[in-house]
Amino acid sequence: MQPDLFAEDRSRLELDPGAFLLGGFALEEAAALLEGIEVVQAASPFRQMETPGGRSMSVAMTNCGPAGWTTSRRGYRYTDRDPETGALWPAMPKAFAEVARRAAAEAGYAAFEPDACLVNRYEPGARLSLHQDRDEVDKSAPIVSLSLGLPAVFLWGGQTRRERPRRLMLHHGDAVVWGGPSRLTFHGIDILASGDHAVTGPLRYNLTLRKAR
Ligand code: SIN
Ligand code: FE2
Repeated sequence: MQPDLFAEDRSRLELDPGAFLLGGFALEEAAALLEGIEVVQAASPFRQMETPGGRSMSVAMTNCGPAGWTTSRRGYRYTDRDPETGALWPAMPKAFAEVARRAAAEAGYAAFEPDACLVNRYEPGARLSLHQDRDEVDKSAPIVSLSLGLPAVFLWGGQTRRERPRRLMLHHGDAVVWGGPSRLTFHGIDILASGDHAVTGPLRYNLTLRKAR
C-alpha cells in the first residue's frame, strides 16, 4: 500500500486554522484500539468522576500513559496514579500513540509525543458539555481525538463559550486534531443517541491524546 496516496483519499476537513477532522483515519486500527481499551480498563476501570461542583459526569472515564486526567471536588488535574486503584495509570498501548502521531502529522504537527490519554465511554444519554482542554502545561502540542463505536454529534465552538458551536458527526474511526490557533477551542459532545454499533453495541468510545507535561 502507498501510504501517501491513501492519505489523499481520506476526507480531510479543516474546521478552523490548525484544526482538522480526518474522516476514517483510524478505521484500520480500530480493532487494535478497542483491544487496547480492554487492557486499560482491566487495570483502571471506567468510572464516573465528580465535577468540582459535585455533579457526577455522565461520561465514564479512565486513562493510560504517564499522566492521567481526573476531576473531583478538588478540581481538574493530571496525576501519575489512578486515585481509585492507587496504582500508576496503565501504560499507553502502542497503537494509541502510533495512530495519534500519524494523525497529528497529517494535520501538520510533526513529532507529537503524547504522555496522556483520556479514555471516554459514552452510553446513550451521556454528553460532554462545552469545554476547553487547558489543564496541559505544554499547549504547543495538539490534541488528538479518536472516535470508536456509535456516532456522536461533536460540538465545535469558538474561542469563547458564547460562540454557537458547529455540529459535526463523528463516526467510528474518525480522528479530530486541533492545535496552534485552535488549541483552546471550546468543544463538546451532544447527548448520545441510542444505537447498536456493529463493533461496540450500545457504546461510543473516544480516546483523547495529549501532551500534558
Ligand atoms: C473530550 O473532549 O475529551 C472528548 C471529545 C469526544 O468524546 O469526542
Ligand atoms: Fe476535551
